[in-house]
Amino acid sequence: MSFLLLIVLTFLLQGCVAVNVILQPTDTAREIGTNVTLACVVTDKTPSENVQWKHKPEGSDAFNALTFNENVLSDPTKYSIRWTYNLTVHNLQPEDAGLYRCTAGGVDYDATLTVVDLPDNVTIEMVGSPNIGETHNLTCKVFNGLPLPTVRWLINGVDMTSNAVIVNTSSTPNGMFYTEYFISD
Ligand SMILES: *[C@@H]1O[C@H](CO)[C@@H](O)[C@H](O)[C@H]1NC(C)=O
Ligand SMILES: *[C@@H]1O[C@H](CO)[C@@H](O)[C@H](O)[C@H]1NC(C)=O
Ligand SMILES: *[C@@H]1O[C@H](CO)[C@@H](O)[C@H](O)[C@H]1NC(C)=O
Ligand SMILES: *[C@@H]1O[C@H](CO)[C@@H](O)[C@H](O)[C@H]1NC(C)=O
Ligand SMILES: *[C@@H]1O[C@H](CO)[C@@H](O)[C@H](O)[C@H]1NC(C)=O
Repeated sequence: MSFLLLIVLTFLLQGCVAVNVILQPTDTAREIGTNVTLACVVTDKTPSENVQWKHKPEGSDAFNALTFNENVLSDPTKYSIRWTYNLTVHNLQPEDAGLYRCTAGGVDYDATLTVVDLPDNVTIEMVGSPNIGETHNLTCKVFNGLPLPTVRWLINGVDMTSNAVIVNTSSTPNGMFYTEYFISD
C-alpha cells in the first residue's frame, strides 16, 4: 500500500467517524410541573468527542453546564440523559425556561424552552349595579399566567381592548395583573 493511499484512507476515516447529530433540539413549550425531553441524538461519536448540554436561563447571559456525555453535572433529580444524548428536564418550573444548547463535537444546537402556566383564576367583577347615564367599571382579573397572558375585552363580539386600562402588570414568574374597563350605559 502506497504512502499516498494511506494518507487518503486516513482522511476518509476521519471524515466518516466525526460525530453526527441526527436529531437536534427544537423550540418547545410545556406546562409547569411536566417533564420535557429535548433531543440531541448523535451517531458516530468518537471517544475523543464530547456531547454537552447547557442552559441559559431567561434574562441571564451565562450558560450553566448540565451534563457531560452520560454524566449529569447539575441536580440529578432535575436532569437526566436518556438514550444518547436526549436531555430530560423534570418537574418544569418557571426558572427552567430559557435557551438549551447541545454541543456535539464543537457544534452548538440551540432550542428555546417556554414554561407555560395557564391563568388559573380569571374573573370578571362588577361592583354595584349599573345605572343609566353613569359610568361603571368592569374588572377582569387574571392570576398566575406565564408567559404573561394577553387579555382581550370583547363586548358583543367587538374587540374593545384598546379602551381597557391595565392596572397592574407584572412580568415576574407567576406574573399577576388585571385590567379594568369602563363602560357607560
Ligand atoms: C429524543 O427526544 C426526542 C424529542 O423528545 C424524541 O422524539 C426521540 O424519540 C428521543 N429519542 C430517544 C432515542 O429517546
Ligand atoms: C417525570 O419525571 C419524574 C421523575 O423526576 C417521574 O417520577 C415522573 O413519572 C415523570 N412523569 C412523566 C409523565 O413521565
Ligand atoms: C380567585 O379569584 C377569586 C375572586 O377574586 C378570589 O376570591 C380567590 O381567592 C382567587 N383564588 C386564587 C387561587 O387566586
Ligand atoms: C374606574 O376605574 C378607574 C381606574 O382604577 C378609576 O380611575 C375610576 O375612578 C373608576 N370609575 C368608577 C366610576 O368607579
Ligand atoms: C401588583 O399586584 C400585586 C398583588 O396585589 C402586588 O403585590 C404588586 O406589588 C403589584 N405591582 C404593581 C407594579 O403595582
